[in-house]
Amino acid sequence: MNHQRHRQCRGTTPVRKGYGPTSFWLQDPKAVFDHLALQEGTVFVDAGCGAGEYSLFAAGLLGEKGRVIALDTVKTSIEQLNVLALEEGKTNVTGHVCDITAPLPLETGSVDVLMLSTVLHIKSVRDQAESMFSEFRRALRPDGMLAVLECKKEEANFGPPLHSRLSAEDVEALAAPCGFEKHSELLLEHTYLACFQPR
Ligand SMILES: C[S@@+](CC[C@H](N)C(=O)[O-])C[C@H]1O[C@@H](n2cnc3c(N)ncnc32)[C@H](O)[C@@H]1O
Repeated sequence: MNHQRHRQCRGTTPVRKGYGPTSFWLQDPKAVFDHLALQEGTVFVDAGCGAGEYSLFAAGLLGEKGRVIALDTVKTSIEQLNVLALEEGKTNVTGHVCDITAPLPLETGSVDVLMLSTVLHIKSVRDQAESMFSEFRRALRPDGMLAVLECKKEEANFGPPLHSRLSAEDVEALAAPCGFEKHSELLLEHTYLACFQPR
């Protein structure tokens, strides 16, 4: 993992209203990944990966036997992520241009951890939550984990506006009807990580 790059970027969290590019710098990413406790050989999907900070961090933890599949609709983000992964020698990361609200190019029961980081609050995604979560459930192993990271539902001078933020209870209300049960929740300073397992 490129700790230097992470150190340089931390502390420069964009302080502005609207849709920030990533939540990665809003918390210690190690806290997020300690909670997820990824095992060697884990298949990790970063759905709506953006520039892929979480993907690259996960790739550094998973080693050669693990696999990171990064999905986003923005072609340039995926292209840049694939280049960066190669530059960093992370051959276990593959980015794909993909609409995560449509059927996923993932085999049934093939994914250990599927992360959705600061994506669900986007209206066009949230509006498709039912079919999207059902598709996530199909792709996850029976003992797999869905990890949803969102900014806390509170006023802040960065990130999504309050009216589009989701609380952990809002997330659970969207996931539960699609066959997920709450596993755990990690509260961070500005964000939270809500984890669910297939029922
Ligand atoms: C706020 S960014 C979060 C990026 C990344 N997950 C992170 O936390 O650093 C939201 C991302 O979701 C992606 N996105 C929005 N709708 C999507 C969709 N239907 N399918 C795939 N990606 C989508 C956007 O392109 C953007 O990269």
